[in-house]
Amino acid sequence: MVSRVIPVEVFDLVIFGGTGDLARRKILPGLYRRFLAGQMTGDSRIIGAARAEMDDAAFRKTVAEALEEFVPEKHRDPATVRDFLSRLHYVAIDAKGEGGWSALKALMRPDVVQAFYFSVAPALFGDLALRLKSHGIAGEEARIVVEKPFGRDLATARALNTTLAQHFEERQIYRIDHYLGKETVQNLMAVRFANILFEPLWKSEYIDHVQITVAETVGVEGRGAYYDKSGAMRDMVQNHIMQLLCLIAMEPPYHFDPDAVRDEKLKVIRALDPVAPEDIVRGQYLAGGGQGSYLDHSENPTSRTESYIAMKVHISNWRWKGTPFYLRTGKRLRARASEIAITFREPPHSIFDDAKGWRENVLVIRLQPDEGMNLMVMIKEPGPGGMRLMQVPLDMTFADALGAEHAETPDAYERLIMDVIRGNQTLFMRGDEVEAAWAWTDPIIGGWEARGDKPQGYDPGTSGPEDALMLMHRDGRRWRDIR
Ligand code: BG6
Repeated sequence: MVSRVIPVEVFDLVIFGGTGDLARRKILPGLYRRFLAGQMTGDSRIIGAARAEMDDAAFRKTVAEALEEFVPEKHRDPATVRDFLSRLHYVAIDAKGEGGWSALKALMRPDVVQAFYFSVAPALFGDLALRLKSHGIAGEEARIVVEKPFGRDLATARALNTTLAQHFEERQIYRIDHYLGKETVQNLMAVRFANILFEPLWKSEYIDHVQITVAETVGVEGRGAYYDKSGAMRDMVQNHIMQLLCLIAMEPPYHFDPDAVRDEKLKVIRALDPVAPEDIVRGQYLAGGGQGSYLDHSENPTSRTESYIAMKVHISNWRWKGTPFYLRTGKRLRARASEIAITFREPPHSIFDDAKGWRENVLVIRLQPDEGMNLMVMIKEPGPGGMRLMQVPLDMTFADALGAEHAETPDAYERLIMDVIRGNQTLFMRGDEVEAAWAWTDPIIGGWEARGDKPQGYDPGTSGPEDALMLMHRDGRRWRDIR
């Protein structure tokens, strides 16, 4: 099996914040890998734009250093790197003033795909959008790419949407949630909608509950200032986990088409019930394992920001009434492990006397690492001794199933940037989707702020606060181990 690379049209991609951390770590190495794969066709170019004064040569040098740091050596053939670097240009730009804009205009070609990546603080989105238009740089078909955080509540998200809408149409705006660029996240849709097997059972009649876990081992060091104003709810649940929830819970779209998919996701978000305070557990990691605590990394020594959250969520619609979704995410946990586990109900009646080994079927979709699927099924325990039952996994680790040439899947950013160039918005969040997600999130955060709730301390290297276990135990269920 050879992976197919579909060339994209010739483009000029401007990266505002071209010397920033995201550009260095993700965007430019991702573009290099697409170049290597033969996808950056013709004389496509990347134009870095930032405040610092530098020329093309200096910018190319910073990018060369980023590639050295973030692309494995075996992929850095010197001639290929040189060729890639020759497509890079740089313009020093003043986002809040007029400096540099005419130079950018002179550089842009009107007859190729134009994309502008706003890899800058959201406070600058409006300034950039305004100047791209007032200087006549961005044409009617130009695309803009914006990063999270897209607002910190409904009011700020709305304000951002309004600002962008003054200069660009919704069809031109690509709001990134990098989880949607992950291979296995898209596989959720393939599993559900390209197989007849699961969909008839995909409802509360047959599904007892769903668990979504995004566990990380990293802490917030180095990002304390941003994170403290955000916390796990804003940083992970409102966007990434919400997207996973949508892909699991949505109705089949009539077509794999941007608005058809996004319409269905939006309906899920709108059907989310408010969450009761007793269904939320927030935690903050303590010091341990030679590492400082959350508070050691925060600028606020009495911060109540959560680095962990677990919650029970209900979706009020015909399909899901009565099936809880348990969500959890946290930093400094035992392992880096993201998975979705769908636990089916027990068969209505057992014909077997031996119910000892009895367990429900569970479909586990592993997002990272070791991407794959595992379906836990009951079989007869081999050997004499009557009909004894045992649970075994039908295991499909994608790396084993797909072979070596698929071992390195493209990074989420590579896929998403190429989708921008192709003009495909399926994997990007629409403005109304983001606003609906905030409309659900705001009262939850407002609730714990008003109550003055404090997060519970948890030891690093564990699966989070004790109370999170209780969240499931009291329903007669338990979390899957994080490993
Ligand atoms: C980011 C969050 O959006 O996603 C980070 O801001 C988090 O806090 C990261 O660590 C997780 O992404 P991934 O791809 O490593 O699972």
